[in-house]
Amino acid sequence: MMSGIPMIDLFAGCGGMTQGFVAEGFEPILAVEWDRAAAATYAANHGEEHVVAGDIAQVPTAEIPPARLIVGGPPCQGFSNLGLKDLNDPRNQLWREYLRFVGAARPEVFVVENVDRFSTSPEFQMLLAEADHGALREYELTWAVLNSADYGVAQRRKRTIVIGSRVGRIAMPTPTHMKSPSTGGELLPWRTLRDVISGLPTNPASTELPESTTSFFGESMPGVFKGMDIHFRRQPLEKSRTRYSFVPPGGGRLNVPTELLPDCWAKKPSGTVDVMGRGRWDAPSVTIRTEFFKPEKGQYLHPQWEPAKMQQPDSPWVQGDPERSVNRVITHYEASLIQDFPDDYQWVGTKIQIARQIGNAVPGGLARAIARQVKPYLA
Ligand SMILES: C[S@@+](CC[C@H](N)C(=O)[O-])C[C@H]1O[C@@H](n2cnc3c(N)ncnc32)[C@H](O)[C@@H]1O
Repeated sequence: MMSGIPMIDLFAGCGGMTQGFVAEGFEPILAVEWDRAAAATYAANHGEEHVVAGDIAQVPTAEIPPARLIVGGPPCQGFSNLGLKDLNDPRNQLWREYLRFVGAARPEVFVVENVDRFSTSPEFQMLLAEADHGALREYELTWAVLNSADYGVAQRRKRTIVIGSRVGRIAMPTPTHMKSPSTGGELLPWRTLRDVISGLPTNPASTELPESTTSFFGESMPGVFKGMDIHFRRQPLEKSRTRYSFVPPGGGRLNVPTELLPDCWAKKPSGTVDVMGRGRWDAPSVTIRTEFFKPEKGQYLHPQWEPAKMQQPDSPWVQGDPERSVNRVITHYEASLIQDFPDDYQWVGTKIQIARQIGNAVPGGLARAIARQVKPYLA
């Protein structure tokens, strides 16, 4: 028995986008994802029957059901200007697939999500051309780069959102949060790391996922895990922990004594500075990427840090108090909460697979804001 508004999720990942739409009364009837661990996570949370754990190109057109909404955008191939404006370019195959699904399911509305640079890519120009005089000519498009923090997510994650509609132009959702709202105003302040990850054990007991396997799509996979199962710590070398101990909230590798840094960084006083960065309790996180568990990939050190009372006299470097500082990267669980997944979301896969699923997802709060905006057009 169908109760919600029927939708299709293409390139569904672990279901971040679906999660937000389901919360607003939509019901997925088909999801396509070729990464089998991600598809299994999706299935664990939203049901296995409607999941195709395979290549979108292999789904026969005759098996695409009618739906009122399609969400999901093909991953961008790149941002060079070479050739991509041509739909026949083999690199555009995923867009051809997307258009095939829209043509077959005939949704009233579709929503494309992509990285912030998407709006300056040749693929985006191609999408505009299709809406102007091609396969999408019935649809009116609106688009913008939205910051997830403006929709109640404790993360400054910017994404290009395109809404295509053949039932009237749909404006972008208006923000509900802002960095520094005026008193008495309608907008709430950005949510922060403190709001979503404070109170969790700072020194998780385990370094591994629990031993457990479950079968999805006839294959045995690690899982199902949830909550504290994915709150495990890494085991950095003592040398790395010493480096982290010098990084204050908002700081990065430039706060670490040069002699403690690997050569490649020690010789680069400028350039990327949030390498080995530390988040701030009272601000949203930076974008959670698929390798958030590597401190060299961004500002992923836990926000808890206070300077030691005793410092080396005349030293330009400030070390944290070991008792009041947490010298580790955020855990998978913390990353999932920053990505706005509920604390009981279920996960399938290895540590690396789960991290990829988390980092690739659309945060629930952003998805919900879009869903709320679209829903009245499908009433
Ligand atoms: C950015 S992620 C999607 C995240 C998802 N919307 C969410 O909110 O969790 C893009 C996904 O497309 C999948 N993908 C890429 N090429 C595919 C193909 N040919 N067929 C099916 N899935 C594909 C990738 O494995 C990846 O999980």
